[in-house]
Amino acid sequence: MEFSIGPELREDLISRAVAAYRQAYVPYSHYPVGAAALFSSGEIYSGCNVENASYGLTVCAERNALFQAVSLGERTLQAIAIAVPTDEFPSPCGACRQVMREFALDCLIILVNGCGETRWTTLETLLPQSFGPEFLEGHV
Ligand code: THU
Repeated sequence: MEFSIGPELREDLISRAVAAYRQAYVPYSHYPVGAAALFSSGEIYSGCNVENASYGLTVCAERNALFQAVSLGERTLQAIAIAVPTDEFPSPCGACRQVMREFALDCLIILVNGCGETRWTTLETLLPQSFGPEFLEGHV
């Protein structure tokens, strides 16, 4: 699917994702990640990764942003920017891709590295032939 997003929104998403990774709590991995998610209301919600001494309790930046949005009543994800301070581009983990899929059949994903370069992709590209909530319609 082709997605279009205005330059102002694009810059907002990117700067909110960068601002978010600066708040990351990453004493174990030292790998800060920030995410900023645009929902159908036009509102942007951001989150960072929050780690824990009990490692498995860590929550990724993407899920913190998405869950905050959903907690405030949002249901339809339109775009998400994910930023890291490293030369390598980020790549959302499988769990976060599936959580994005819960709130979008497909959406724009903007990856941002520490040099300020961006790479554009889509949820359908990163999670092809996906399972989603509509599979359960009529079964619950
Ligand atoms: N992490 C994220 O927050 N998002 C990603 O896209 C990949 C991984 C976090 C989890 C953990 O705090 C650290 O990065 C290293 O795995």
